[in-house]
Amino acid sequence: MPTSRALGLLMLLSGWARAHMILTSPEPFGRDTLNNSPLAADGSDFPCKLRSGAFELPAEQAMIAVGETYPLILEGSATHGGGSCQISLTTDRIPSKESKWMVIKSFEGGCPANVEGNLAGGATAVHPFGLEFAIPRGIDPGNYTLAWTWFNRIGNREMYMNCAPITIIGGSTQGLPEELSSFPPMFIANINGCITAEGVDIRFPQPGNTVERKGEPGRLAPPNVPVCSGVPRFGDTETDISSSSPI
Ligand SMILES: *[C@@H]1O[C@H](CO)[C@@H](O)[C@H](O)[C@H]1NC(C)=O
Repeated sequence: MPTSRALGLLMLLSGWARAHMILTSPEPFGRDTLNNSPLAADGSDFPCKLRSGAFELPAEQAMIAVGETYPLILEGSATHGGGSCQISLTTDRIPSKESKWMVIKSFEGGCPANVEGNLAGGATAVHPFGLEFAIPRGIDPGNYTLAWTWFNRIGNREMYMNCAPITIIGGSTQGLPEELSSFPPMFIANINGCITAEGVDIRFPQPGNTVERKGEPGRLAPPNVPVCSGVPRFGDTETDISSSSPI
């Protein structure tokens, strides 16, 4: 018979295990079936937490103009000491393992929050994290899937990924092919055999042109150290991910 204290600890631990973060703006795909847990450790539900109903459209799909500042809102309070996040786009409306993702913004540290551990309020809390992004010039108007990916600083080595359908309007008239080639591939780890270190805000091997650092400088991984250990089975296997950005 467990004591009430042990029971309390058990409830705390199970709450910790279940309560993470969920993307609410832009409105994600398949909200009715989207839970707040990370991607499966074996990569089987990559991308976008594949499941039945994963790409069900929201009632209102976000419409975002090129250059407009748009809020990235996450629900929940299990911030796991923050970490590093990326915002990526693919032209695939139903992304698959073969989809090409283009990073449009990297947060190295302080994402979702600059915190020691978790915040209060439970799984449905909405804290003002102040995360924002803009669609860069060089992205043509049209329908895209946006992904928010997150590597938590504290806790199990995980990768979070929620996806949202968005419509981009008012795009640049610049030649697309040249522009597109300047958006790096999304960083993938912890689900593909390459594991990130705990306790630091990772630096992405290819963060792209728009990088925001919102964490404690002392928590940022040092430059030129391996960003993950192990050989990635899939994801960006061409870049030398044994070395993170030197800047
Ligand atoms: C973009 O997506 C919306 C919602 O699914 C759809 O109504 C619209 O026809 C799409 N536009 C294009 C250009 O595919």
